[in-house]
Amino acid sequence: MDFLMFQLETNSLTPLYEQLYTEIKKAIITGTIEEGAKLPSKRKLAEYLSVSQTTIEFAYSQLVSEGFISSEARKGFFVQNLTELALIEQNRPIIVQDERSTDIYSIDFSPGKIDTDSFPFPVWRKFSKEVISEANKDFLLLGHPQGDYALRQQISSYLYQSRGVKCTPEQIILGSGTEQLMPLIIRLLGNEAIYGIENPGYPLTHHLLLEDNEKTIPIPVDGDGVCVSQLEQSNATVMYVTPSHQFPSGAVLSATRRTQLLSWAYKAENRYIIEDDYDSEFRYTGKPIPSLQGIDQNERVIYLSTFSKSLMPSLRIAYAVLPKPLIIQYKQKYSYYAATVPRMDQQILAKFMETGYFAKHLNKMRKIYKRKLEIVTRTIAMYDPLVTISGEQAGMHLVLTVQTSKTEEELIELAKRAGIRVYGLQEYVSGNLDSFHQPKIVLGFGGIEVEYLETAIKQLVDALEITKAL
Ligand SMILES: Cc1ncc(COP(=O)(O)O)c(C=O)c1O
Repeated sequence: MDFLMFQLETNSLTPLYEQLYTEIKKAIITGTIEEGAKLPSKRKLAEYLSVSQTTIEFAYSQLVSEGFISSEARKGFFVQNLTELALIEQNRPIIVQDERSTDIYSIDFSPGKIDTDSFPFPVWRKFSKEVISEANKDFLLLGHPQGDYALRQQISSYLYQSRGVKCTPEQIILGSGTEQLMPLIIRLLGNEAIYGIENPGYPLTHHLLLEDNEKTIPIPVDGDGVCVSQLEQSNATVMYVTPSHQFPSGAVLSATRRTQLLSWAYKAENRYIIEDDYDSEFRYTGKPIPSLQGIDQNERVIYLSTFSKSLMPSLRIAYAVLPKPLIIQYKQKYSYYAATVPRMDQQILAKFMETGYFAKHLNKMRKIYKRKLEIVTRTIAMYDPLVTISGEQAGMHLVLTVQTSKTEEELIELAKRAGIRVYGLQEYVSGNLDSFHQPKIVLGFGGIEVEYLETAIKQLVDALEITKAL
């Protein structure tokens, strides 16, 4: 195996699999490895180079997909014909790698992932069939600009029962995701609005609003949620908040701050709160916290939520509940726009809700995510006090605080090299926030299989070299 004795740089920013891929490719092109030669098995090469088998797997599969080697079932990997390869290589267009590509990650702790194993495929298929039928051909035509009434009706009664949101279907606007509704709300609130955003906060709001720096004011978040006293000192007129489970810190807005936030909104005519209640279906400890919209007495809360967590992010269905004065303005200004959600999907979802399957699905998912959370908590407890958890009361992500001399960036890079995707809390921060002394990692646990979760967490902690650091 000497011909594969490459020097892989563990300190390099280039992932190990990419270094290995480049080295093998070079060896094939220069003839160091001859056409037809058999490459060592993944296990042997992993042992030989002291790297994980996943690293070898990534490198080999990249070489297979580019035609440098072929994979023959039960025989192994063989070097392909060089002349043809050299020609292909010369003419190969430069491929810009998609930044969001998940190819290099074998474990993905992204907060946007859900448990795809538990989706009720048969029921969804049944309702899809019912909707896509000649007997229902009306779904081919444009429906109401705010979305089908039947679905808005389902949403309004679901919201009242589960979140205490008081609204009629007429106040609801469906949109293809929070990311489509937010710009609409921003336009509706007009040029005069000055936005307060949570810091750290949801990247979408940061992207949307920070482009217009002068009109956006980052407001710090602590263990009780957004610091309303700092909002009071700013000249913001609209505050975007995630009170039930702050994104990404996981803090829950305290009762005192809720009252304080509503009082802030009542102090001037043009003040609004945008309440993004994106993952409130999944609350694991304490009593359910009612929405701000439910306790608002003065029509100052714009309520936003989504089916991205409760059902699937690819469905692209979210909704906004507008206070009455704003819905009147909305109807005057924007009702000539068609709804952005396909009617087919709206109708399938409406059936799913009206037949009680949505409530059943939520109950089931709550148990599954709770179980996953318990596994994460129990596993991380083994590393206490080197690694501690916060923000775990709700949702499908939490925050790990790591006692280490390494920086957050170094930790993320170490995880990446081990094929593990995690995000640092700093990625969600705008400007400088000096309140985070220790590195923090945002850990989404929704998408990892129950059986594999404990191992995945242990692999992450190993990759971060936390125990070695002290
Ligand atoms: C704070 C927050 N709001 C909203 C969403 C959902 O956005 P969308 O409805 O565009 O999928 C997410 C992510 O899932 C989120 O983290």
